[in-house]
Amino acid sequence: MKINEIIFASHNKGKIAEITEMLKPLRIAVKSALDMELPDVEETGSTFAENSLLKSKTIAELTGIACIADDSGLCVDALNGAPGVYSARYAPDRDFNRGMDKLLAEMAASGNQSRKAHFSCVISLAYPNGEYNLFEGRVDGQIAPEKMCGPDGFGYDPLFIPDGYDCSFAQMGKEAKNKISHRGRAMNLLKAYLETM
Ligand code: IMP
Repeated sequence: MKINEIIFASHNKGKIAEITEMLKPLRIAVKSALDMELPDVEETGSTFAENSLLKSKTIAELTGIACIADDSGLCVDALNGAPGVYSARYAPDRDFNRGMDKLLAEMAASGNQSRKAHFSCVISLAYPNGEYNLFEGRVDGQIAPEKMCGPDGFGYDPLFIPDGYDCSFAQMGKEAKNKISHRGRAMNLLKAYLETM
């Protein structure tokens, strides 16, 4: 089934910008749920895959257009994988500056010395007929002892140092981040899939 247009079920401007950039080389028109004033589907699942599918399936059924959605988050070893699927809600009032302070405080209080963490992302592609595909990406790294801010980035980017780098996601530039990020990896799998259609 050839796809000519796709909806990205997100209201997050940072993610919309990243995904639009990544899908540019494909001749598929991308519209976002934000542009189309579609509802923000509640993430009530307990895994990234469940939440991703909740969003893509709902919007695909509602609009009759193929829909992609992602769910992603930061999993910190010292916090037994938290905040995980709760990454967005973990930040008080969705203020990630405070969310990062909370994360550093909870890591310090945990007594666990590990700084290991990973970002995970599951992208789902849902069709109006109920069929779907899943694409998963992950990037491993360390939580910095303090925020390492830079010109780019959103969410927990200033705290995440990917393995093999000494700068944070916020400092490395969008293009470099997209190449190695959890979302970039999941997107590459989605792109490879769409290219075969
Ligand atoms: P959701 O995927 O929209 O549920 O959001 C997950 C949350 O995880 C976001 O609001 C961010 O706080 C965080 N997150 C996901 N991906 C990234 C990333 O690439 N950088 C920083 N934070 C991220």
